[in-house]
Amino acid sequence: MKNMESLINHIKTQGFIFQGSEIYGGLANSWDYGPLGSELKQKVKELWWNYFIRHNHLNVGLDSSILMNTQVWKNSGHLGNFSDPLIDCKKCKSRFRADKLIEDKFPEVNAGKMSNSDIEDYINKNKIVCPKCGGLDYTTIRNFELMFKTNQGVLQDESSVVYLRPETAQGIFINFKNVQRSTRKKIPFGIGQIGKSFRNEITPGNFIFRTREFEQMELEFFFDPKDKTNWFEYWIKEVDFFLSEVLGISKNNYFKREHSKEELAHYSAATTDFEYNFLFGRGELWGVAHRGNFDLTAHQSGSGQDLTYLDPTTNEKIVPHVIEPSVGLERLILAILTESYCEEEVENGTRVVLKLPKKIAPYQIAVLPLQKQQNQAATEIYNDLLKNYDVIYDETGNIGKRYRRQDAIGTPICITYDFDSENDKCVTVRNRDTMEQKRVLISELEDFIKKDLI
Ligand code: GAP
Repeated sequence: MKNMESLINHIKTQGFIFQGSEIYGGLANSWDYGPLGSELKQKVKELWWNYFIRHNHLNVGLDSSILMNTQVWKNSGHLGNFSDPLIDCKKCKSRFRADKLIEDKFPEVNAGKMSNSDIEDYINKNKIVCPKCGGLDYTTIRNFELMFKTNQGVLQDESSVVYLRPETAQGIFINFKNVQRSTRKKIPFGIGQIGKSFRNEITPGNFIFRTREFEQMELEFFFDPKDKTNWFEYWIKEVDFFLSEVLGISKNNYFKREHSKEELAHYSAATTDFEYNFLFGRGELWGVAHRGNFDLTAHQSGSGQDLTYLDPTTNEKIVPHVIEPSVGLERLILAILTESYCEEEVENGTRVVLKLPKKIAPYQIAVLPLQKQQNQAATEIYNDLLKNYDVIYDETGNIGKRYRRQDAIGTPICITYDFDSENDKCVTVRNRDTMEQKRVLISELEDFIKKDLI
């Protein structure tokens, strides 16, 4: 049955994702991506980069550092604001996110926006007991800093404190002027980047959905607020198109949700989240936030540097406004895997198949000699295809099992070199999704594949 357990089990056993630090008993909530998983990640990043940066005339790319001057976090509002309310059960010593305690019991309540004392009152009034021991005796709430803290250099004191970035966005804002100057881009234009972010999440979980180390793909799009184009709607449409048309995610499985006024983050004038129907329930996948000019203004006053943009036609200096589409790579991977995972009843049992979009399948083609005698001829085909495609060669086990193996990792095309191939110069080409088989001339194989992989 398709559920979170069967999906995770499949992904782990097929070698997409392993438990992090497994031989030492693991490190909670850390995941290592195996050969298939790292290939899938790489391809999704490539698709994002091509769509939002390389093939979009409005945008350029950036790769900023993870460690930044602590002033960045002070002025962005993260130091002091980027924390979760923690509460301990005095009886069993379990620790919880206090707002989550409320929301788990009363999903209609937005406790994220309540003050700490309001949360404490709500918990006591509504008798929200400890989920572990059933007690109703909590400590007062403490704010728990979500940024990972470390020291740079040999000194281990306050002066050497640095933080691992909790979002890639700030690296973009502090480089706005560098990028604008060096590229001579005129607004509207965007700067995008892909990179690791770190948050010491109190309640990580749901496999790779919420982790402490993750990768973000973020675009900060700068524009003049007087511009008549509705850039917020524009980027919402772009994200929608990318999800449905580029990644093939069914529109029935994701939804747009506008944040209410109370829910908006401190920097945001409006936010629309794309939520996906994960197998554990609906969850945020991709946020599109209208950040106004909050960040550039904050860094301008914090750094004392001029971060305004000089409009060459009006000679007017403005602090551009920003639209930010931001997505976590691993969440997108989880959505793609959820979407692709199928259990199908076939003649001789159940076949598990990953119907991954062809452009992101770890392998596009598998070459399978029917028997050992055909190894040499099949290897020649494999080596030829390897020049232009991602190909795997598999000669072990019976052909039925080998097809199933390729179905399980999402390989769209299997090519079998068999007894007749030497005489008719044809191979059997099998389609992953329909399981249809066709004889194709080896001399026409590349043309056939090219069309099939589009
Ligand atoms: N720069 C804006 C920003 O970081 P966010 O809503 O906190 O906004 C953006 O994060 C996206 O990053 C989310 O929509 C989600 O896809 C991903 N994300 C955030 N926290 C995550 C976590 N702990 N694990 C995995 N992905 C996460």
